[in-house]
Amino acid sequence: MKISVGCDHIVTDIKMHVVEYLKGKGYEVIDNGTYDHVRTHYPIYGKKTAEKVASGEADLGITICGTGVGITTTANKVKGIRAALVRDVATARYAKKHLNANVIGFGGRITGIGLIENIIDVFLETKYEKSDENAELIKKIDAIATENKDQFGNEHFFDEFIEKWDKGEYHD
Ligand code: RB5
Repeated sequence: MKISVGCDHIVTDIKMHVVEYLKGKGYEVIDNGTYDHVRTHYPIYGKKTAEKVASGEADLGITICGTGVGITTTANKVKGIRAALVRDVATARYAKKHLNANVIGFGGRITGIGLIENIIDVFLETKYEKSDENAELIKKIDAIATENKDQFGNEHFFDEFIEKWDKGEYHD
């Protein structure tokens, strides 16, 4: 199984730990960055991580930023993605079992690394419980997403935004 992983600059250490944890368990990992602590912005990595899953290059995704809100919300905007921001094992299990969530999100400054590991284990091991009810609901939810073909996989989508960031127009 291949897992797409992404984070922003304030939780890079946690992402690196998660990558090693997954590799140690025999999973293949696509590490979408960020790779250091230089200030950047979570939408870039939420989009990249989710697109690997939506395109089929990866089976599942993991998104991590300070709260988990920014990067996981971004991932959810990618067509075909059902991303769940979780803080506990029960929610992760529900997300996979009933919603067939394909991305799980964490707040690296909120949830401890031990619990993150436990949640990842449960998320990866839980099977989607296919039923007519679940399938219909997922189909309906997925139909809400619209596709903007010009931005999918577009490495320059955030260029204007990064330029403003570099000029100091955005703040943490
Ligand atoms: C830092 O950019 C911080 O705002 C981010 O990691 C996250 O907490 C947003 O949800």
